[in-house]
Amino acid sequence: MAFAKQADKFACYEEAIQNPRKDVIFLTKTFQSEFHRKALRLREDFCGTAAISREFISSDFERFAVGVDIDSRAIDWCIEHGLSSLHSGSDRLELVLADCREFQDTRCYDIISANNYSLFLLTSRIDLIKYLKRVKECLDPSHGMFICDLTGGSDCFVKRKVKRQCGSLVYIWEQEGYNFIDASWQCALSFLFRDGSLLKRCFQYTWRLWTIAEVMDALYEVGFNKIRVWFSDLDEAEEFVYEETSNISGTVKSWNAIIAAV
Ligand SMILES: C[S@@+](CC[C@H](N)C(=O)[O-])C[C@H]1O[C@@H](n2cnc3c(N)ncnc32)[C@H](O)[C@@H]1O
Repeated sequence: MAFAKQADKFACYEEAIQNPRKDVIFLTKTFQSEFHRKALRLREDFCGTAAISREFISSDFERFAVGVDIDSRAIDWCIEHGLSSLHSGSDRLELVLADCREFQDTRCYDIISANNYSLFLLTSRIDLIKYLKRVKECLDPSHGMFICDLTGGSDCFVKRKVKRQCGSLVYIWEQEGYNFIDASWQCALSFLFRDGSLLKRCFQYTWRLWTIAEVMDALYEVGFNKIRVWFSDLDEAEEFVYEETSNISGTVKSWNAIIAAV
């Protein structure tokens, strides 16, 4: 049988797209540098298979995480495959099937994260502000941090396909269209296998391509006091190489940014 027919799209996503160890190191180091204490409570919004939450609880036995996602298939995958591969500590991870825009959480966290461009899922400013307000309310008032990532650059506006070898897989990132009126951006992800078979467009997104400035405005509006930005120019390197900055000028065809707000 063709590899694509037997493939598990969530396993492919984790293998090709995610690097939870790197993410958790970044999250916890940034938190430590701001507050001079260890981050113990994480909420991973738009968590998918909760790879970052799993890594977070595995990295320290005192750590607790909550993963929130609207897709029951992703949550079920995490329960079946992700949690079973943990040696211990799975009782320190809670998975919640919910819409992050509506989720009423009464707990308080050190860090709330929205990774892999998840803020782009909030396609109106009303939704963005509503979500960020809820985030702010759930962060510890003395030492809470929100962290998210964005992408951008002039290449976003053109139809293009990017192929990248990741272990035994090639992932194919397709940008299918950008609307200059409402800043909506259609993208899809496919996986190509060694035998030439294709798991076609198994993840599809209609995103709002927020700029860094728009997200910063929204974060200040809901009450965050300090924002730090790390930028990685993808024209310069294949890998993400992040540098903290407050000024990028000139044309960048493709970039990623991480934003931390406290
Ligand atoms: C771009 S993926 C990010 C997955 C993962 N966080 C990562 O770092 O790769 C976006 C995830 O958000 C989920 N999602 C989309 N809209 C949502 C919403 N309104 N509330 C909660 N989850 C949502 C999708 O099911 C998907 O798992």
